[in-house]
Amino acid sequence: MTGIPALTLNDGHALPQVGYGTWPMSDAEAGPAVAEALRAGYRLIDTAAAYGNEAGVGRGIRASGVPREDVVITTKLRGPDHGYDSALRAFDASAKRLGVDHVDLYLIHWPLPMKDLYVDSWRAFVRLKEEGRVRSIGVSNFQPAHIERLERETGVLPAANQVELHPDFSQAALRAWHAQKGIAIESWSPLGRGGLLHDPVLERLAAKHGRTVAQVVLRWHVQLGLVTIPKSQNPARIRQNLALFDFALDADDLAAIAALDGEHRQGGHPDTWIE
Ligand SMILES: NC(=O)c1ccc[n+]([C@@H]2O[C@H](COP(=O)([O-])OP(=O)(O)OC[C@H]3O[C@@H](n4cnc5c(N)ncnc54)[C@H](OP(=O)(O)O)[C@@H]3O)[C@@H](O)[C@H]2O)c1
Repeated sequence: MTGIPALTLNDGHALPQVGYGTWPMSDAEAGPAVAEALRAGYRLIDTAAAYGNEAGVGRGIRASGVPREDVVITTKLRGPDHGYDSALRAFDASAKRLGVDHVDLYLIHWPLPMKDLYVDSWRAFVRLKEEGRVRSIGVSNFQPAHIERLERETGVLPAANQVELHPDFSQAALRAWHAQKGIAIESWSPLGRGGLLHDPVLERLAAKHGRTVAQVVLRWHVQLGLVTIPKSQNPARIRQNLALFDFALDADDLAAIAALDGEHRQGGHPDTWIE
């Protein structure tokens, strides 16, 4: 897996700790960008039906020359497709757009508690896993109460939960809860959508280690035991965001970053977000 450390999930499968985010790329942009990322060494690609770029992602994977079986493809169920039968149909449509017969990680994109269909969607996910069409099943933007309900009503815990997480929104309580449950966390907007890149504390740490601020932040995600999925369409930054495994943050660095948490979200709140 090109030297990227991997996390073992509660279902026995593994995820590389650094993957490649594809939002907000268009379908046309995603193909060349994904091919570039795979050639640079990424082996986890994150897309979603809602991004409208699954076909481009599939084209990029095929164009890269990297064998399909070496790539962890993640996609997500969008809000209008919640429900048992509609989730099964939506999965078929995503797989067709991607041009694959199975997906490695399928996530419910948002819980949408106001629709109250995420448990039905989850039952469809369990079936897709049993049928071998999906390797690992998980959720995104779920709060502990949503996951506890899945566990209570289906007996099946997600392998992963993809949530907003970066130094300004570090989700310490959520991370502790997931560690105790054995559910991996993938951090979205890991760079705070670029908003953290001029923080003076992070700039000091970057100078200390001779790295960029983005590398310090991504290394922090890795050392916290997270899977992180930065997005870049710039070839040099695509490579930079993967060059994280020949330096380490020390305890003082980690404490300085922990002190930056202002509990500032970039995206929507899981209890109220509507897709
Ligand atoms: N599950 C969900 O609900 C959810 C929500 C949001 C995002 N996501 C996923 O998470 C991925 C990442 O999140 P995100 O795109 O919101 O934010 P992000 O990865 O934190 O930030 C992306 C921004 O940072 C810039 N950037 C990337 N690397 C850089 C570097 N080394 N130096 C300076 N700037 C850099 C990018 O610009 P350039 O492209 O110009 O480099 C882009 O503007 C998405 O692509 C998507 O796959 C999931």
